[in-house]
Amino acid sequence: MKCQSVTLNGGFKMPIVGFGSGGIKTADLMEETLNTALEVGYRHIDTATVYENEHLIGSVLQKWFSAGRLKREDIFITTKLPNYALQPDKVEEFLRASLAKLQVNYVDLYLIHFPVARVETAPNEPCSLLPTDHIAVWKKMEEQVELGRAKAIGVSNFSQRQIERLINNSTIKPACLQSEIHLYLQQESLVNFCHSNGLVVTAYSPLGHPGIGDWLKKRGMEKDYLPDELSDPTVQQIAKKHNITTAQVLLKFQIQKNIVVVPKSSKPNRLRTNFDLFSFSLDDGDIKALADLDKGERARIFEYKNLNGEDHPEWPFPKRR
Ligand SMILES: NC(=O)c1ccc[n+]([C@@H]2O[C@H](COP(=O)([O-])OP(=O)(O)OC[C@H]3O[C@@H](n4cnc5c(N)ncnc54)[C@H](OP(=O)(O)O)[C@@H]3O)[C@@H](O)[C@H]2O)c1
Repeated sequence: MKCQSVTLNGGFKMPIVGFGSGGIKTADLMEETLNTALEVGYRHIDTATVYENEHLIGSVLQKWFSAGRLKREDIFITTKLPNYALQPDKVEEFLRASLAKLQVNYVDLYLIHFPVARVETAPNEPCSLLPTDHIAVWKKMEEQVELGRAKAIGVSNFSQRQIERLINNSTIKPACLQSEIHLYLQQESLVNFCHSNGLVVTAYSPLGHPGIGDWLKKRGMEKDYLPDELSDPTVQQIAKKHNITTAQVLLKFQIQKNIVVVPKSSKPNRLRTNFDLFSFSLDDGDIKALADLDKGERARIFEYKNLNGEDHPEWPFPKRR
């Protein structure tokens, strides 16, 4: 299957459907899943230092490269600078480490993962936040492009204000915003701002991270969570009408708005159908019905509560309190 692409501000093509790799942490599962994804036709891989799987991706890719099944330039790789390295003197060190793990000498896109810097701590330890200077970090990000370690640079989880400041204080403008975007959290104004300023937008958790409700319930973390988007009656109705899956409805809704999607699945059949998005179209009525289901901020899944950062000057989301 062939995938459509969007063009980043440096002129590079980015496949509009990517392989979300978060949560795939064992060698066997990565091998099986990424092999299937590459066989299906995925040519865009989304990873991050904090996913602790770059080395697993690197070893699968290496096998494809050395067998002559793919060339480096056939694959679009995104990785991310963790927020415990959101300091100017850490950018080069962390990108170099990612390149070594991925066994490549450049990434296609390097993103700042989260706009609030913190001290590195062991999992479950309380974390202290640090003063954060985006402009100083960005200068080092620009250097990575000049040195050929990244083709393009961008941000993730940034607010419009933070992106605007980078646009106004940079030589190389941010090429991409990766943000939580799905049916119930559509972020229309942020998306429009990015598109009108030349940034590609990537939707993470584009399926609404199904199962999050059950996950929270099991841990006694009751909150006003919303039902799975895959079981939304409107989504089900549209899926039935086009004879497609509900996941295909959710993904196609984003890509018809020129938003890149990086769904994660470790099931071969789902990897296949999640990528099979180019043989049908949603009509204007479908798009309108889906747009009307936006629930705004209350549908945010990734609240980064563990950071306890709402009072930090670079906190990117509306305050809950
Ligand atoms: N920048 C950031 O801060 C950030 C944050 C979160 C995520 N991300 C990126 O975005 C990617 C995707 O986000 P996500 O994993 O949070 O959420 P998601 O892609 O919305 O949902 C993933 C979940 O959906 C299930 N699923 C996949 N396809 C399905 C289908 N066709 N039908 C039913 N269930 C399906 C998967 O289960 P199975 O595996 O069992 O199929 C998995 O549990 C991540 O892998 C990561 O690359 C970035």
